[in-house]
Order: sequence, then C-alpha cells, then structure tokens
Amino acid sequence: MSGHPDPRAEVWRPADATPRGGEDDVAGALGGSRLFEQPQYRAEAEAYRRFLAPPGPVALEVGFDHGHRLLSLAHADPAVRWVGLEVRERRVLALAERAPPNLLAWRADARTVLRRLTPPGRLNRVDVLFPTPWWDEGKRAKRQLLTPIFVADLAQALVPGGVALVATDVAPYFAHVQALFAGWQPAPLPRPAARPSQRHRRCLSAGVPTFWGAWRPPA
Ligand SMILES: C[S@@+](CC[C@H](N)C(=O)[O-])C[C@H]1O[C@@H](n2cnc3c(N)ncnc32)[C@H](O)[C@@H]1O
Repeated sequence: MSGHPDPRAEVWRPADATPRGGEDDVAGALGGSRLFEQPQYRAEAEAYRRFLAPPGPVALEVGFDHGHRLLSLAHADPAVRWVGLEVRERRVLALAERAPPNLLAWRADARTVLRRLTPPGRLNRVDVLFPTPWWDEGKRAKRQLLTPIFVADLAQALVPGGVALVATDVAPYFAHVQALFAGWQPAPLPRPAARPSQRHRRCLSAGVPTFWGAWRPPA
C-alpha cells in the first residue's frame, strides 16, 4: 500500500502502446504537433527560439499549473532563463502577467516543444512535477506524458550533464519512470524551490508520500 487516498493510484499501469505519429509528429498533441508552423502561431515558436538563443543556462518546467513553484525559481535564480509549458490557457495567461524577464510562460504541449522546436542539447534542466496520471485508459493511451518517445526527446534536448527531474505521488507511475530512465545516470535532486507546486503542497498537507528522481542523459 502506498498510502494514497485514491485507490486507483495502487493499480495504475502505463499505457500499453504509445501512438507514434509520423517521424517528427506527436499523435494527440494539443492543436497538432505542426501547430507552430501555422502562420498565426509561428511567432510563438520564434519567441521561444529567441528566448533560448542567448548563451547561459535554460531550465524548463512541464505542466506548471498555477506556476507558484516556477515563479519562485525564476525569482531565486535570475541567471537562469526559465520556460514554463502548460496546456491550460488561463494558467498561462495568469503566470505570464506576473513573469519576470527571465521567465517565458507558454501555452504549448511539451511533447511538441521537445520533439520539434527545441535545438538539441540546449536545455540544462527539465522538471516534470506530478504529471497527470490519466486514470481513464483511453485518455492515458493518448496523453500519458512520460513514455519512451518523450524520454528519448528529453535526451536530445538536454545538454550533456543536464538533469531531468520527475516527481509523482502515484507509486506505480514512479516505477514506470524509473524503468524509463534506467539507462540514464542518477543525479542529485536539485535544490527545492522556495514554494512547492500546488500538487506537492496538497500531498504534504494530506500526508501523501511523493516520489522524486533526477537523472542525467546517457553519455
Ligand atoms: C497533475 S497537474 C500537476 C501540476 C503541477 N506540476 C503541480 O505539481 O501542481 C499536471 C499539469 O500538466 C499539464 N499538462 C498535461 N499534459 C501536458 C503537456 N503535454 N504539455 C504541457 N502541460 C501539460 C496539465 O494541464 C496540468 O496543469
């Protein structure tokens, strides 16, 4: 027993097969994985590339939701440029209003951004905190974030020695994540943010155990 209040967390299992899409596509991505080639969205991809262009460290958080944690990281570490990706528009607009110049909040599917828009070896760190478990099997098959394909894209996007950080409160999801990163080097967990994420805060106050891992891509 993991001590999780939701009994589904005991029996979660990964999607059987991940839809592959074409060579460069992500099946089921928000708006389609070629969204940012469309004229009305192209400027967003260009803004991302401009944000990445200057030298210096870049960290990315996937699925920031309320963004409290990401905002605290960006304020604490102004020498790092932080990118936050979130598919929920209202959350993105709310964070963008408060973002300091070293934080780009962007409504984009992380799978598309890693696969199609991030120059290889550009990111120093990618944080995925409490990815949605998608209890419904059909949705999980389409939307599960941490899959072999996503982890391969992470390996491409990270600089050698860069770090992927993952946290979850779903014990079998963490076992799945550990298997996905089995060929990577375990790394120390980065310093905690001054403010925990919303989900982490809820787990802390409800006494729900959380599982954390950090890994560096294989050389
Ligand atoms: C369970 S919530 C966790 C939010 C936050 N990380 C936390 O710890 O409180 C997962 C978040 O990831 C976002 N999300 C899910 N799939 C995503 C994707 N492919 N790209 C970007 N964000 C995604 C969801 O909209 C949601 O806000």
